[in-house]
Order: sequence, then structure tokens, then C-alpha cells
Amino acid sequence: MTEWTKLLPIKILVTGGGGQVAHDLVMLGKQDSHFDLITLDASRLDVASPASIQKALDLYMPDYVVNTVAFNNVDAAEHDTAFCYQLNATGVKNLAVECGALSIPLIHLSTDHLFDGHYASGYSEDDEVSPLGVFGESKRQGEELLRQYQPKHIILRVSWIFSARGDNYLLRTLEKARTLSAIETADDRQGCPTSAVDVGRVILAIIKQLHNGADAWGTYHYCGAEVTTRYRFTEAILAAARQYEELKTTSLVPVSSRTLHAEVDRPASSVLQCKKLLSTFGIRQRPWRNELVAVLRQIYKTKTKTEAKSG
Ligand SMILES: NC(=O)c1ccc[n+]([C@@H]2O[C@H](COP(=O)([O-])OP(=O)(O)OC[C@H]3O[C@@H](n4cnc5c(N)ncnc54)[C@H](OP(=O)(O)O)[C@@H]3O)[C@@H](O)[C@H]2O)c1
Repeated sequence: MTEWTKLLPIKILVTGGGGQVAHDLVMLGKQDSHFDLITLDASRLDVASPASIQKALDLYMPDYVVNTVAFNNVDAAEHDTAFCYQLNATGVKNLAVECGALSIPLIHLSTDHLFDGHYASGYSEDDEVSPLGVFGESKRQGEELLRQYQPKHIILRVSWIFSARGDNYLLRTLEKARTLSAIETADDRQGCPTSAVDVGRVILAIIKQLHNGADAWGTYHYCGAEVTTRYRFTEAILAAARQYEELKTTSLVPVSSRTLHAEVDRPASSVLQCKKLLSTFGIRQRPWRNELVAVLRQIYKTKTKTEAKSG
């Protein structure tokens, strides 16, 4: 990198443009003049097609690619196996090969579902992976293919993502809370909720340091601070949402994860240790409770605006 190119904004191409992390990452990047973010949905960059990836890389010539594409439906993955592997494994390989050929670093998102969930104290990057289902196995293969085809990569494993849009546990819970008097929720799963905005913050902080010469390729964990259970997280969502609207739900029913997900087991513990990210990049975990308040504020601001327009 020459001295004058260092003065230009860092050009980042984000795949999976319609997704929750991609959306919040781009919104965050727009507020920082160090970055120039381009986000492409599947119609403009299809990870299943090497030609489509080549075309996008030739056109935009990014400094970094961030891959947020995934098949994320853990139950559906057991049936829609070929499509799941196409996005989570082959798609990552396609990106890694094309980025590798042009020496463009690839930042890729992965998941706590790589682990079987038996370590209540949490998983470090060195712990052995042992996925419980097709989804986790497809993400494991995606990681392996990335390591094989583009050594200049960051794999960021994250967990329990919530945001103001897309398909996530927070929004599904709010929908249920408006219509059901009781909600069943797992009290035998623990993890750390993480806002999509916070994942975006971490990605940009990593890229800034890589761009300034940090030689720190590899695999990292990130999640919001404070371990909780699905039950407690649901409780926190409802308590915060009640500041804005009356909810129909009056009781939470603790049940086992098995009761809710007969199809495929979820890791009992999804806790990710984030020490390596802190010691390498100085990036600290943010409390998910603060992020939850911010995301709910955003949800209700949008809801009020939409209602005002339609009323
Ligand atoms: N969500 C979580 O709780 C969670 C937890 C841990 C890790 N992660 C990981 O974090 C990353 C981001 O997750 P997310 O929740 O932001 O995902 P998401 O909202 O499901 O977004 C994924 C995006 O990929 C797009 N896509 C599908 N097929 C494509 C293709 N062939 N080419 C290009 N784009 C395609 C989808 O578009 P369409 O909507 O048009 O299909 C969607 O917009 C993923 O790697 C995920 O595995 C997520």
C-alpha cells in the first residue's frame, strides 16, 4: 500500500446485502469517513456463482470483502441440506478462491453452532468444534474452505444476533408477545445475545487495524457481555418492550430446548470467550442489555413513523 492510498477511505464490499448484519454494518460505516461501504444483495453478487463474484470484484475493486451470506435456518437445514451447503460451504469457498486470486482479505462470519454446547464456561477459539446438526457442520466446512483458499482472512464467530429487522429471536418474541398470553422459552440454553450493530462495530474496528498493518489473520470470537439464558433474555425483551406498548403475554413458561426444537438440538451453552479479540485488537465486549434498549428504541421509532404515515 502506498502512502497516498492510505488516505483514501477503505473500500469494503459487503455480501448478503438484505441481511441484518449487512444492513447495520453499512449504516455504521456510512457514519465514518474512514470507510466506503458497498453492499450487494444476491441479485448483484450471488455467492453460488464464481462468475458473479468475479464481476463484482472487478467492478468495485474493494480493499476488503465482508461475507454475511448464510443459510441460517437451523431446522430447515436438516431438509434443505444441498442449499444450506451451497451457501454456507461452497459459497464461502467461491468467495475465498476469487478473493485469494486478487489478494483481497475476506472477513467471514461464523457461529456458536460449531460447538456441541457442553462447556458451560464458554468456548475459546482453540476448542474443538463438534457441530450438532447440518447447519453447524455446513458452517464448519465453510471455515475450513476459507482457511484453505484465502489465508488472508478473519473468521468472526458470533452468537444470538438480534436487530431491528430481519428474522431474529427478538422480533419473533415481540410478535408472539402481541398475540399470546403465555410464551414457552428454553431455560436450559445459555449464551450471549449480540446486536447486529455491535457485530458491525467489531468488523469495522478489525478492518481499521488490518488496514494499518496489523498482521492478525485467523479466527476470533465475539458476543455481547453477560451470559444469560433464553428464558432470561426473553424476560428482558418483554420488560424493555413494555416501556413502549402493552403486550398480551402475561407469563413465560420455562421449558427444555428439546420441547421447542424437536428436530435438531441446539448447543446447551453457546457462550463464546472473547479474550483473543481483546488481546489482539483491544476490542471489548459491550453489554447486550444496553444494545437491546437501543434496538427497541429503533424498532418503536420506526413503528410510530409507519403508523403515523398510514394513519
Ligand atoms: N442470526 C444469528 O443469530 C446468527 C448467529 C450466529 C452467527 N450468525 C452468522 O452471521 C452472519 C450474518 O447473519 P445474518 O443474521 O445477518 O443473516 P441474514 O439476515 O439471514 O442474511 C443473510 C443474507 O444472505 C442473502 N443471500 C442468500 N442467498 C444468497 C446468495 N446466493 N448470494 C448472496 N446473498 C445471498 C440473503 O438474502 P435473501 O434474504 O434475499 O435470501 C440474506 O439477505 C451469517 O454468517 C450467520 O451464519 C448469525
